[in-house]
Amino acid sequence: MFDLTGKVVAITGGAGVLYTTISKGLVAAGAKVAILDLNEEGANALAEELKEAGGEAVGVACNVLDRESIEDAADEVIKAFGKVDVLINGAGGNRADATTTPGERSFFDIPPEALNWVFNLNFLGTVLASQVFGEIMAEQGEGVILNTSSMTAIRPLTRVVAYGAAKMAINNLTQWLAVHFAQEYSPNIRVNAIAPGFFLTEQNRYLLTDRETGAMTPRGQQIIDHTPMARYGAPEDLVGTVIWLISDASRFVTGVVVPIDGGFSAYSGV
Ligand SMILES: NC(=O)c1ccc[n+]([C@@H]2O[C@H](COP(=O)([O-])OP(=O)(O)OC[C@H]3O[C@@H](n4cnc5c(N)ncnc54)[C@H](O)[C@@H]3O)[C@@H](O)[C@H]2O)c1
Repeated sequence: MFDLTGKVVAITGGAGVLYTTISKGLVAAGAKVAILDLNEEGANALAEELKEAGGEAVGVACNVLDRESIEDAADEVIKAFGKVDVLINGAGGNRADATTTPGERSFFDIPPEALNWVFNLNFLGTVLASQVFGEIMAEQGEGVILNTSSMTAIRPLTRVVAYGAAKMAINNLTQWLAVHFAQEYSPNIRVNAIAPGFFLTEQNRYLLTDRETGAMTPRGQQIIDHTPMARYGAPEDLVGTVIWLISDASRFVTGVVVPIDGGFSAYSGV
């Protein structure tokens, strides 16, 4: 049920920190993986690494904000593997100037371009890729889309105003797409999302650790204090849930957002 042998998985933002580890896990579970990333060099390097480890993989240049670029990338995936079974919308991120910082940037000073940038990358990029790959799935009559939400969608975190709202939009979109694809195209097209908790990566390093000393910031400590399992996540913690959600093991599951957060979203703080 959890076996991914022969399944073709396209991952946007696949060369990033979390999806690099997830890609390795998917290849180990038998999947053929296409790494779609704005960072073409990174995508190719990861594909080479996956191939050296005995997997089937291809790196493809792709900008999720440019529909033509996504269409070209989809053509490349089909050329390489003949079909596409799964789209993982992994491209996403935050920017410091779309984030309030005490003494540095107030909510009133956040520039509209920064809000747009964060919204576009996290929301529009997922919509556009789902249009292109979703159409292929509609023609096939089957497929899986997996979106990437965040803890801040489930319980808004302080400071990350645009990022949180954009990820909440992903939760709504996940439910909408799940219903739309099942009703309009095929009950064998499923759409779900993962909501990772706190993983120390480049995206949030400046919020969770001190720029100079590397010590945990008060915010970083608050996160640990509110995580019953009392640690940050490791990218490896995501692999099993992703395999479950893109494999036949979850064949009656659609429209859900699964927290992978060490219990953060379950804890009231008391
Ligand atoms: N790191 C965390 O703690 C955390 C927590 C919750 C959710 N997430 C989400 O998980 C996903 C991966 O996060 P990460 O920490 O690995 O980020 P990351 O910055 O390491 O990876 C993001 C990848 O997306 C690529 N990318 C950026 N813009 C793109 C574009 N326009 N088109 C195609 N690719 C583009 C980047 O080149 C990069 O390889 C994101 O959606 C992020 O919002 C991360």
